Amino acid sequence: MLNLRLNKLINEGILKSYEKDVIRINKMIMDKSGQGNDYIGWADWPTNYDKEELERIKKDAQYVRDHFDILVVCGIGGSYLGARSALDALKGLRSDDKLEIIFMGQTFSPNYVAQVMNYLKGKKFAINVISKSGTTTETSISFRLLKELLESQVGKEEARKAIFATTDKEKGALKTLCNIEGYATYVLPNDIGGRYSVFTAVGTFPLACAGINVDDLLKGAIKSREDAQSSSLKDNQCYQYAVMRDYMYRHNKLVEMYVTYEPQMSQISEWLKQLFGESEGKEHKGLYPSSATFSTDLHSLGQFIQDGTPLLFETIINVLEPEQDILIPHDKDDLDGLNYLEGKNLAFVNQKAFEGTLKAHEDGGVPCNVIYLDKLDAYNLGYLFYFFMRACAMSAYLLDINPFNQPGVEIYKKNMFHLLGKKGY
Ligand code: PA5
Repeated sequence: MLNLRLNKLINEGILKSYEKDVIRINKMIMDKSGQGNDYIGWADWPTNYDKEELERIKKDAQYVRDHFDILVVCGIGGSYLGARSALDALKGLRSDDKLEIIFMGQTFSPNYVAQVMNYLKGKKFAINVISKSGTTTETSISFRLLKELLESQVGKEEARKAIFATTDKEKGALKTLCNIEGYATYVLPNDIGGRYSVFTAVGTFPLACAGINVDDLLKGAIKSREDAQSSSLKDNQCYQYAVMRDYMYRHNKLVEMYVTYEPQMSQISEWLKQLFGESEGKEHKGLYPSSATFSTDLHSLGQFIQDGTPLLFETIINVLEPEQDILIPHDKDDLDGLNYLEGKNLAFVNQKAFEGTLKAHEDGGVPCNVIYLDKLDAYNLGYLFYFFMRACAMSAYLLDINPFNQPGVEIYKKNMFHLLGKKGY
């Protein structure tokens, strides 16, 4: 499970000074009485989820695994990053699962879209289109293309059986299309926004298709919720993390860098960047979330982190037990001088890189928090996702920000629609 070690600037006195605010805000989260409270359905979702729908999701996922070679997951932002990050984290970057999962709908890039379309030609694929609004342009364009290709390959009738949609219960263009075409449909509940939706069908359907145990994912979230409910700050690592973030922000450490030592977790960092960036970056407030994958990025960003402008602090997610390991072999000539590591495994080297870097950065004045995670499985990942969502709500409320809207995101869209000639813009 998860163990948090806060950076050395945070002491008991600081935590104590936040106690009253934490009690007040925790009550607000539990009573659903804070700003944006009509979008706080995610807080109880791990225990309140639609049990019948999850059973249907698991059945349909098995159907996809039995009948198709590829699942194309079509969504963007909160309708994409949860599944994408969990899939990478749990299956690795070179999954050899019999069902290949490809993401589309998260970009306008003609190169990317054309490459995926070319790849799909003649192949047996299903589509999971995910959009709460049902009108997101990247997703809608991709889905139109995918649907057309699928129908041209297998006919309209068979295509219907290969399209699975996750959208609003009642409204939106995608929901209307689902009603007309009779696609299998799952619900993204009204009171849950995209970046808080990983435990709904948005995450569970593609993950179940990938053969991931979504019950374990939810069990991890249930435990995380249980641990995060306590308003006693000394027992609540989730809120300690939120308080630390607030303290850093108020003491001019304006950038939080999420660090992992596993390339397959780099999408978790992307998910975190969306969660915190879109939830907190409002009213000219909020920490800027950034990320790095070590040791790779120590050979690029490492110099800045160690010696550059002192604006950041790190939150390192350190997985203690990798799923696989590799032994460093003996070489009789030892020309590379590596025989001192023979018989050691890469997990050992990776941990020493972590320990050495932590010391270097802390000695250099960079505050470093460490989240130790036992291992990277569905249960622990469920725990981690919920931990961050709950911490994000606390952290945004400490800044007096509504964590659940994203007013700034709409402005570029208006300009883009105007330039594209969309009616009404
Ligand atoms: O977190 C969010 O609310 C956003 O990232 C949305 O999920 C994203 O814009 C996609 O929206 P939709 O699901 O309506 O297509």
